[in-house]
Amino acid sequence: MKRLGVNIDHVATLRNARGGFHPDPFLSAKQAMVYGADSITIHLREDRRHIKDIDLKNISKSKIPLNLEMAANDQMLKIALKYKPNFICLVPENRKEITTEGGINILKNLSKIKKIIKTLNQNKIRTSLFINPNLNDIKLSKQVNSKCVELHTGKLSDLIKLKKNYSNEYIKIKKCAKYAKSIGLEVHAGHGMDYNTTSLLSKIKDIEEFNIGHFIIGESIFAGLNKIIKKFKHMSK
Ligand code: PXP
Repeated sequence: MKRLGVNIDHVATLRNARGGFHPDPFLSAKQAMVYGADSITIHLREDRRHIKDIDLKNISKSKIPLNLEMAANDQMLKIALKYKPNFICLVPENRKEITTEGGINILKNLSKIKKIIKTLNQNKIRTSLFINPNLNDIKLSKQVNSKCVELHTGKLSDLIKLKKNYSNEYIKIKKCAKYAKSIGLEVHAGHGMDYNTTSLLSKIKDIEEFNIGHFIIGESIFAGLNKIIKKFKHMSK
């Protein structure tokens, strides 16, 4: 069975919409763990549009296995070394994007990424790079001594949702996973995953971990509405 990292960024999005404390990302992290998540993923963005430093502080102080997604820069590295999450995944960050639209450009940032990964490895934080599924980026990930790669599944997810032919993209991900594993990298996958994508990607044995956020948080609304509305109706009898 593959490990499941639950990304709770969008619990924070909802909390921030009202500027208060509800729903609390830390509570959602604790509950996700109780219900079987293997780890919790959060992305501390430069603009703090969802996860805030207090969320990182609360979760990192607990015993929850934490995967921090962050941009590859010195400011974020400083924060990472302060809170020492168990895992770090370096992601590209573009202020105008709605979500992480593609993998990190390793070649363009080679020396910076290598330096950050070295520091994280020395601090015993498991390192990962969020990359587009291509062999070149896998070779570069190995070259900069990352321990894992996370293959961006956004394109595959979009093709499946649009009912378009996805077989080339699926084969590409499968080949990348096999190659990455063969050179000693642990393989993860994530972005845009839902039930369909997950059931398809579960067939790829070389993938060890999924990181899923938006769909889990969105779908939880439908799983929970029944219970919450019944409770309110009962209370207002
Ligand atoms: N993995 C990485 C590296 C990401 O940046 C994201 C999105 O923040 C995810 C997984 C989860 O994507 P989604 O929210 O679409 O499930």
